[in-house]
Amino acid sequence: MYFRQLLSGRDFAVGDPVATQMVNFSYLIGDEDTRQAVVVDPAYAPEELLDTLAADDMTLAGVLVTHHHPDHVGGDLMGHPLSGLAELLGKQPVPVHVNREEAEWVRRSTGVSASDLTEHDNDEEIRVGELPIRLLHTPGHTPGSQCFLVDGKLVAGDTLFLQGCGRTDFPGGDPDAMYTSLRRLAELTGDPIVHPGHLYSAEPRAALSEVRRTNMVFRASTLDEFRSMFG
Ligand SMILES: [Fe+2]
Repeated sequence: MYFRQLLSGRDFAVGDPVATQMVNFSYLIGDEDTRQAVVVDPAYAPEELLDTLAADDMTLAGVLVTHHHPDHVGGDLMGHPLSGLAELLGKQPVPVHVNREEAEWVRRSTGVSASDLTEHDNDEEIRVGELPIRLLHTPGHTPGSQCFLVDGKLVAGDTLFLQGCGRTDFPGGDPDAMYTSLRRLAELTGDPIVHPGHLYSAEPRAALSEVRRTNMVFRASTLDEFRSMFG
């Protein structure tokens, strides 16, 4: 498998103060044989992500969106216009895979049209070349947040960080849904390596078993406990 974890402000969008401060991860995931790849959450400098794919001799086959926030897909971030999905599609029109519950939010954040988006339900699978990627609907941070499970890796967006989880106090956030989503991720088999949407910890990735052991969000064993800790 072809897999790259790229940090905003360090690996791309270097010198962009918002990208540097927000420490977002974008991911490039593809099939080494067919040379097809997708980009996960192309914000700040989508053209650089396309250049990286081209330099690696990979062809862009699509975009995966974890959720609609502008630091992941572009749009207006508190008065800062961020480049993202719309600019990427302007250069290379490809299918954009979103959760059905997130589609309207993504349209509003980025200005892309409904026909640009391929809507998915929970637990659907897409193929990039011959590489299967499982789409898990994990609401809580946003209504249609989704995570991606691919070859022993969990690309978790803003649902699960190595320390903590995504905030649930933005529009569309729901602490009860977050609790359920985190439980579901905790129960994934095969101990996938968690790849978060931001670098909010010393390490950029860690095994799910390690995250379960060290992340405070897994201390709560009931919904009431979770509400009192994080609600
Ligand atoms: Fe977010």
